[in-house]
Amino acid sequence: MKLSQKVRLLASTAGIALSLSAGAASAESLTLYCSVGEEWCQAMVNGFTRATGVEVAMTRKSSGETYAQLKAEAGNPKGDVWWGGTGDPHLQAAEEGLTEEYNSPMLEKLQPWALSQANSSGHRTVGIYAGALGFVYNSEVMEDKNLPAPSCWADLIKPEYKGEVQIANPNSSGTAYTALASLVQLLGEDAAFDYQKQLHANVNQYTKSGSAPAKAAARGETGIGIVFMHDGVQQKVGGFPVEVVAPCEGTGYEIGSMSIIKGGPNPEAARKWYDWALTAEAQEIGASVNSFQVPSNASAKIPPEAPSLDKVKLIDYDFKKYGSSDTRKALLSRWDQEIGSLN
Ligand code: F6P
Repeated sequence: MKLSQKVRLLASTAGIALSLSAGAASAESLTLYCSVGEEWCQAMVNGFTRATGVEVAMTRKSSGETYAQLKAEAGNPKGDVWWGGTGDPHLQAAEEGLTEEYNSPMLEKLQPWALSQANSSGHRTVGIYAGALGFVYNSEVMEDKNLPAPSCWADLIKPEYKGEVQIANPNSSGTAYTALASLVQLLGEDAAFDYQKQLHANVNQYTKSGSAPAKAAARGETGIGIVFMHDGVQQKVGGFPVEVVAPCEGTGYEIGSMSIIKGGPNPEAARKWYDWALTAEAQEIGASVNSFQVPSNASAKIPPEAPSLDKVKLIDYDFKKYGSSDTRKALLSRWDQEIGSLN
């Protein structure tokens, strides 16, 4: 073989090698930690891969559990994006430097409450949806047991509901932490802990996931579940005999959030997900799998089934305080000592 032929062969071999490595690099991937329901997580993953070609490895865990995972992995982060879950632990992760600052070009498309989440965290998290806390009850259970329908927080501690109330553990669940922080804001801290001690007498189980009590109420395994109202609506739309209640005294709410994990292995893919997840199109995926939160993109359609935040008596939830590391740690440790330790 002549020298020129050898060079051409080498070049073409190198060319093949180059295009192979370019091909390998374009098979981009992302590791997603997801803190909403499994079905919504999966639908988002499918939508993102369809839109961008990026492959996603997804793990679903509740909000408090995912926060704990970020903390445990801080020395060697394995995840790229934490999508969904209540805002408080996202804010705590931001304050503790576990999440990355990112100024997405999509921020200008968002509702003010979603932006304020970004602004108060130095752009280390952002709001993706909102929803009010309430409870759900199974009307057949109430009728069979001759129990009145509850309508206020004060009702849930009445002796007649003994063993009929289910709520998650606020360490693992963002929903239950929202309940804890809302009660503290409604009643004052000591009164909120007294309330929870009385509530404990009626609680049949502290679940890991926040929406589990809505599913249990739907199936009649508990009479009442303390959950986000949209999780109750999901069961009602699913055909179960449940009613969703906005507590008469007023209630707290969540700004479901998203954060990029600091030092994650795929920062570019993480920003791609972030920008995409803030589009109206991505935010409308929720309703297609019966997730009826209010989307944060101002142009995304609000599902008609979504409980209207304007019609619920909402407290002025202090996200800065109750999402701060000190306050969240202190409230959870008091809960462990005074409530979690009860039999
Ligand atoms: O997806 C349902 C939902 O209630 C979200 O609105 C919320 O952010 C999340 O689950 C909270 O889940 P958990 O209480 O398990 O952390």
